[in-house]
Amino acid sequence: MSTSSNLSPPPIPDDVEKLLNDLPKVRVWDAKDIYQWEGFWFPPAFVKSTITLRSRFQARDDDIFLASTIKTGTTWLKALSHSLSLHHAPPVDIYDASAPRLLHTHLPYVVLSNSIKNSASKIVYITRNTKDTLISMWQFFNSLYRPNQDPFPIEKAFDWFCSGVHQFGPFFEHVVEYWQESQKWPQKILFMKYEELKSDPKGQVSKIAEFLGRPFADENEVDAVLWRCSLGRLKNLEVNKSGNILNDVPNKSLFRKGEVGDWKNYLTPEMEEQINQICRIKLEHFGLFL
Ligand code: A3P
Repeated sequence: MSTSSNLSPPPIPDDVEKLLNDLPKVRVWDAKDIYQWEGFWFPPAFVKSTITLRSRFQARDDDIFLASTIKTGTTWLKALSHSLSLHHAPPVDIYDASAPRLLHTHLPYVVLSNSIKNSASKIVYITRNTKDTLISMWQFFNSLYRPNQDPFPIEKAFDWFCSGVHQFGPFFEHVVEYWQESQKWPQKILFMKYEELKSDPKGQVSKIAEFLGRPFADENEVDAVLWRCSLGRLKNLEVNKSGNILNDVPNKSLFRKGEVGDWKNYLTPEMEEQINQICRIKLEHFGLFL
């Protein structure tokens, strides 16, 4: 991968509001409007900030980007990566230009700035079994927008998910783009699966550490990081019981069961077959099995 940015950034449209007005718009979860732009569905603030990001953001060669679509293990990956940096370096000052920056994005690969793509910065992407992602997403939006009410009809959530109409969707294209790039540039993008982190946490977290150039000295360090980032521990921290990540997103909504295969409790055999069929066409065709 080239380390120089020789492509000129796309121009910022004079009137981003006008652009938004011209984009296809859908209301999801009976609560939020999302807009289709560059082949994906975004909350409006993300269209605006991504346009700015694409033309202005300058990645540094030692930046570390964590990337994911929603509900695929982002919070776990963030905690692990943060713990790794803390474990191997003195406390980092975010404003220190010499410090490696740890950043996260839900943006699809296609809209990342050339500066990110062409720098020597690294990307760790995490994804998850398709059906578990759908159920986790449905439960998450139920908890945000329907507290103490009946959940959204699962059939409706299923249709949105399968047709890709949800925040940062389509899931399938989001995952495949990063998958293909990671195959082309394995030194640049590490592609992780939630299930592998669950089944082999030591092996997988060591892989992240090596990829980021911070290999563990011994097994005790691995154990310490895994314990610090365990679901049980994070869920019970006071800040995660009462704090908010965004205005309308309480931290506690990010921690639920963390199980593999929870979808079996909610999807019918017909839904399972339908989604498997989409996976065969959209993922397995590219050698990706989720
Ligand atoms: P479930 O809804 O299946 O329980 P994201 O962080 O991308 O929003 O993903 C949320 C999912 O990751 C939720 O899955 C959540 O329970 C799980 N999760 C959050 N923190 C975790 C951790 N430390 N270890 C394992 N799973 C975690």
